[in-house]
Amino acid sequence: MFFKKKETVKAVDERLKHVAFIMDGNGRWAKKRSMPREFGHINGAKNFKKVIRYCGDKGVKIITVYAFSTENWKRPKNEVDAIMNLLSDYIDDAVAMVDENNIQLHFLGDMSIFPPKTQEKIKNAEAVSADKELVLNIALNYGSRAEIAHACEVLAASGKTKFTEEDVAGALYTSHCDDPDLIVRTGGDIRLSNFLLWQAAYAEFYFTDTLWPDLDEREIDKIIDDFYSRKRRYGGLDK
Ligand code: FPP
Repeated sequence: MFFKKKETVKAVDERLKHVAFIMDGNGRWAKKRSMPREFGHINGAKNFKKVIRYCGDKGVKIITVYAFSTENWKRPKNEVDAIMNLLSDYIDDAVAMVDENNIQLHFLGDMSIFPPKTQEKIKNAEAVSADKELVLNIALNYGSRAEIAHACEVLAASGKTKFTEEDVAGALYTSHCDDPDLIVRTGGDIRLSNFLLWQAAYAEFYFTDTLWPDLDEREIDKIIDDFYSRKRRYGGLDK
């Protein structure tokens, strides 16, 4: 069974504030069932909602998901459209259930690529959810190198010529939150694929062969247990 009752869920502590997911493997999940890739994304979106709810119930305060990269535009139009429709439906649902879900939405990436109506919808979703508790970052038309280049433009426009690490962090799309403690990638590949390159400096990584639509609560618990077994020294020595 996917869901445990909220009261039986083991909570995380302050060591694990921010978990980021690279939701890979939707296409292969569909292929294994002789279904079109879009079917994988539909089930990926379903699982995304379950994973968000489960991590939220466990007390994770910030969740980031890689929904669509700057490189994903290279995919066939029907696949891109399917992902965009799922995202659009999710935004509608999230706005309709904003009090119940208690999720603060943020979109990471260059939104200027989207039509004005979509940009309005995104801005509205961020505005109406701004006072909610669980921070959910959805990386959309996101690429980490483009994000860093954009941050350079923002910093250069300030007129200053010397910058601290805090200045750079403050000019990234993630300026509202702490860096990820844990980055999980499903789907078997062991790479970051242009995701949170700056923010990942001291993150712990977990790679699993499980395809995104199959990532369930048991494996999330296992991943979190594994996270707690790591020694995070940040370049220092064990205490
Ligand atoms: C990677 O799997 C997944 C994506 C590029 C899209 C992720 C989108 C969703 C989970 C659905 C929409 C999201 C939200 C937030 C509602 P892949 O297609 O590269 O899989 P493959 O490696 O098996 O081909």
